[in-house]
Amino acid sequence: MDSLILALESSCDETAGAILRNGSQVLAEFVASQIDLHRQFGGVVPEVACRAHMECLLPGVDKMFTDAGLTPQDLDAVAVTNRPGLIGALLVGVSAAKALAYAWNKPIIGVNHIEGHIAAAKFSHPEMEYPFVALVVSGGHTNIYYVPECGVYEKFGSTLDDAAGEAFDKAAKLLDLGFPGGPVIDKAAREGDINAFDWRDACLPRKNPYDFSFSGLKTAVLYAARGQKAGRKGPLLLDRQGVCDAAASFQNAVVRALVNRTIRVAKEKNVKWIAIGGGVSANTSLREAMAEEARKIRCNLAVPPMKLCTDNAVMIAARAHELYCAGEFADLELDACARASL
Ligand code: KG4
Ligand code: ZN
Repeated sequence: MDSLILALESSCDETAGAILRNGSQVLAEFVASQIDLHRQFGGVVPEVACRAHMECLLPGVDKMFTDAGLTPQDLDAVAVTNRPGLIGALLVGVSAAKALAYAWNKPIIGVNHIEGHIAAAKFSHPEMEYPFVALVVSGGHTNIYYVPECGVYEKFGSTLDDAAGEAFDKAAKLLDLGFPGGPVIDKAAREGDINAFDWRDACLPRKNPYDFSFSGLKTAVLYAARGQKAGRKGPLLLDRQGVCDAAASFQNAVVRALVNRTIRVAKEKNVKWIAIGGGVSANTSLREAMAEEARKIRCNLAVPPMKLCTDNAVMIAARAHELYCAGEFADLELDACARASL
């Protein structure tokens, strides 16, 4: 089915927009990252995020129409991430999308952000077939799904405490590496020894063999970085090499846990494809390890290019196209929800 969809994404700290034809051809896009705004606070500040979304969203939309040589009347629908995420940040996008849909007299589509991350893998590997297993790893989510068909998700495992991206961000803080934690740990780990600290079992809760836990690993990093007694505010006890070793050992523990469990589900469900998505899927070591283990069980791997791993609106437009084809429209009552599962 043909579609021309404008999508908006503002669930966390990137303001993004995209215009896609048929869910597959990007005609215009923008991502305004707020990383520099939040860096001084060492994490995302919701109020700061909301204000930045308000400033960037509509100018971004205008620029997309200019870039694509289109007008609002060319569109078939307006889509927006309405769940899950920071409530204020989501509300900025949802309110803007509703106002635009109303003014332009276009239907509106509400998109789940997690489904967006899975759609990013499908967008970059259109040849991927159902059923597949999807690992979504971001700042707020760590979930493994079995996906038998479009829009159907069977959750196998998830985190019992911190999300994987959150663990990266907290570990980086403990190691004085800066914000956001994922990219800086990824970089420091390249110069470190993965065997310096044996943290491989720290992410394995006992009950469900598919679940994750990252709080024990975080404590292990804290003790290595600051000692058992000092707490978070104590002086850093590691030299530069020690920090790189801790980063490498931490990353290895997280990656092993993510890969082992995903492969286990893929084997159990006997799928031919594994998809990964979310900010942590930009991690070099995760991409390499998952590719290697998937090859061993003769599974294909769908990994989005880096810029579609972190938050963007191309993935929201791609998922919106599927909803458009299924006739699943929202209306002007569409609301933002901070929490939503799949
Ligand atoms: O998907 P995303 O952009 O936003 C959410 O939906 O949360 O994910 C952001 C998360 C952050 O926690 C960030 O540290 C992590 O993704 N991240 C990475 C890397 N790049 C970003 N984690 C590990 N390695 C990376 N290279
Ligand atoms: Zn995300």
